[in-house]
Amino acid sequence: MTKTKSKWKCQNCGYETVKYIGKCPDCGEWGTFLEEFQPNQAKILTKIIDNSEPACPINEVKINSSIRFSTGLSEFDRTLGGGLVQGSLTLLAGDPGIGKSTILLQTSNAIAKSQKVLYVSAEESSSQVKLRAERLKANTPNLLVYSQTNFELIKNQVEDVKPKVLIIDSIQSVYTQNISSSPGSISQIRECTNELMALAKSKNITIVIVGHVTKDGTIAGPKVLEHMVDTVIYFEGDRYKSYRILRPIKNRFGSTSEVGIFNMQDNGLEEVLNPSELFLHEREKNITSGNVIIAAKEGTRPILIELQALVGQTPYPSPRRVVNGIDYNRLLQILAVLEKRIGLNLSKLDVYVNVIGGIDIDEPAADLGIALAVTTCARDVIVSPDTVIIGEIGLSGEVRNVNNIENRVKESEKLGFKKAIVPAASNLSQKDFSIEIIPVNRLMDAISACVYKEPEKV
Ligand code: TYD
Ligand code: MG
Repeated sequence: MTKTKSKWKCQNCGYETVKYIGKCPDCGEWGTFLEEFQPNQAKILTKIIDNSEPACPINEVKINSSIRFSTGLSEFDRTLGGGLVQGSLTLLAGDPGIGKSTILLQTSNAIAKSQKVLYVSAEESSSQVKLRAERLKANTPNLLVYSQTNFELIKNQVEDVKPKVLIIDSIQSVYTQNISSSPGSISQIRECTNELMALAKSKNITIVIVGHVTKDGTIAGPKVLEHMVDTVIYFEGDRYKSYRILRPIKNRFGSTSEVGIFNMQDNGLEEVLNPSELFLHEREKNITSGNVIIAAKEGTRPILIELQALVGQTPYPSPRRVVNGIDYNRLLQILAVLEKRIGLNLSKLDVYVNVIGGIDIDEPAADLGIALAVTTCARDVIVSPDTVIIGEIGLSGEVRNVNNIENRVKESEKLGFKKAIVPAASNLSQKDFSIEIIPVNRLMDAISACVYKEPEKV
């Protein structure tokens, strides 16, 4: 019989002690310790060691070219660095309801056209999965659905079915009998993931696990898992908007600089091959003051985004600064530069800045766009709608160069814009572009370069 020993573990942060204590010395939470019985860890280690390859000189290691295979969605493949790697363990994490089950069912159906896939749903019954599958038109016979939460039974099923790809939806809902804590606790998650890792490596099964991110922290979030798995991908988006972004956080087999963009439709996730069009298509025809277009970046791809500012008299003793989609402190810095360097008095004015589409921009290339949106709104004039604005602003009011400027300008050109206000330091040559390049050195130059016009009354 396996010898078991007990220890007390904080369910919030994973801190371990040999006896019960009320307050966790690590995270400071009260009453979070639960007693857990651990099987001998050596059992798990042996499994991994048994199947490891012998040491080999690096110049003799062979790369298996068929090691990667497609998920059926090119945006997903791009995020993974070219597809799923055989025998790897991937974690797909995201808020509940964001579309993790949807994307994995779509992917499973596509993969099942060439390999056997076992989709284990620990949250939904097989008929609920079937209902979703009908919406997604997923009906490949090689896609097997199994509704189960008991990890030992899941393993038996894997032995019987011998799938090439295994999906576990979600890791927080499965439990192993080896330890006593409830499903979703850190120990359960850690133990099940350890077992899955052993399964992936020993049987060369490609495994994708779903992990919910919870805000209240009652269920252990996938943070614990991140160091255990090969690849971590976050599925993000605004639940009230239709677009979704797959963002790699960690990838043992590829870069983490690419993102995949999707649009949630009635019949599943649709790939967005041209993201700028998605974010610009709702643009109003009558542009008002304070609206500008900037060229931001998602992964390595440029993406054109509309940015709005609203500036008005404040009814409060101190004016309000409200941001949506940009960094609050960044706005304060830009406003300080506007006050000091171009004399825009904002001390009695509220400033609201909003990025359309619910996307978050966290790069300085948006600075110039934000500054022009605020300035034009404060002066009630408009920036010509065929102009794209790119540049970082320094504290002395200088416009600084940004990375990938060429790609950003090319993207603007492709989408039919006529002018690009860019940092002079970028040294872009007009002859390489059909779009008019307007190089600027200082914030003041950029303001003069915008084509001002009185807005039509709305
Ligand atoms: P789901 O994949 O269940 O999210 P998660 O597994 O991350 O919790 O997706 C949930 C949302 O997606 C749900 O609100 C309905 C919506 N949805 C669509 O809009 N279209 C679809 O085709 C499907 C299957 C779901
Ligand atoms: Mg789900």
